[in-house]
Amino acid sequence: MSAVVAIRGLTRRFNGDAPVLDRIDLSIQPGEFVALLGRSGSGKSTLLRALAGLDPITGEGMTLPERRAVVFQEPRLMPWKSVIDNVALGVPGARENGAAAAALADVGLSHRAGAWPLRLSGGEAQRAALARALVREPQLLLLDEPFASLDALTRLRMQALVRELCRRHRPAVLLVTHDVGEALALATRILVLEGGRFRRDVSVGVDHPRRRTDPRLASLEAELLAELGVGETNIFEGETPT
Ligand SMILES: Nc1ncnc2c1ncn2[C@@H]1O[C@H](COP(=O)(O)OP(=O)(O)OP(=O)(O)O)[C@@H](O)[C@H]1O
Ligand SMILES: [Mg+2]
Repeated sequence: MSAVVAIRGLTRRFNGDAPVLDRIDLSIQPGEFVALLGRSGSGKSTLLRALAGLDPITGEGMTLPERRAVVFQEPRLMPWKSVIDNVALGVPGARENGAAAAALADVGLSHRAGAWPLRLSGGEAQRAALARALVREPQLLLLDEPFASLDALTRLRMQALVRELCRRHRPAVLLVTHDVGEALALATRILVLEGGRFRRDVSVGVDHPRRRTDPRLASLEAELLAELGVGETNIFEGETPT
């Protein structure tokens, strides 16, 4: 099968400064779930926006799928439209043919179809944002820290939901996250962006369901935390990942 994403030499700079993305090569295969880690300001969102087509990009050759969908840290729902109308927005016929309702059912939100977005909890709003992405049947699903503003328990539920949805719908996924544990829970492959390049590109060769206590995940976690400049002891000393 051919790659869903194949880009070579992707460069992005702002105002003549040093490039944020410096001749990046990236390919993503169908069904791959790639997590992108990196310090704050390392260019993760810049890369995601480029893949989403929200930013002009320069590179040598680009293969990107037609159907792409993005979920951001905030749900970005239109407050004057009901939840189901938000989901159907921009997808002709999604309301009439039941696709919007099916996407809401997929994320466990059927009972909120007629609600106003401002009446949703944070977790519900992110579910609606996920449904809005799914209804597009994306070949590439781009997630930019979609759970970062949720409480820890809701975040775990959302991670399980995303895993289940990806298992069923099989999009290729690029998940930007600060959370090494989240990357290890979900991804088949983990990239670390630093200095405009991928400093690490590791396959997570552990089948699902994964156990947090799996020694292979634990050693990969220690490696990645070190890569990000966060030793385990530092966490207990109150230093947080950036
Ligand atoms: N529109 C823009 N104009 C100028 N500089 C920008 C713009 N967008 C991003 N940058 C700069 O590019 C760099 C990378 O930003 P980006 O948002 O991609 O980082 P990030 O890895 O997503 O960070 P975070 O983890 O904090 O979200 C930063 O130094 C940022 O200031
Ligand atoms: Mg970002």
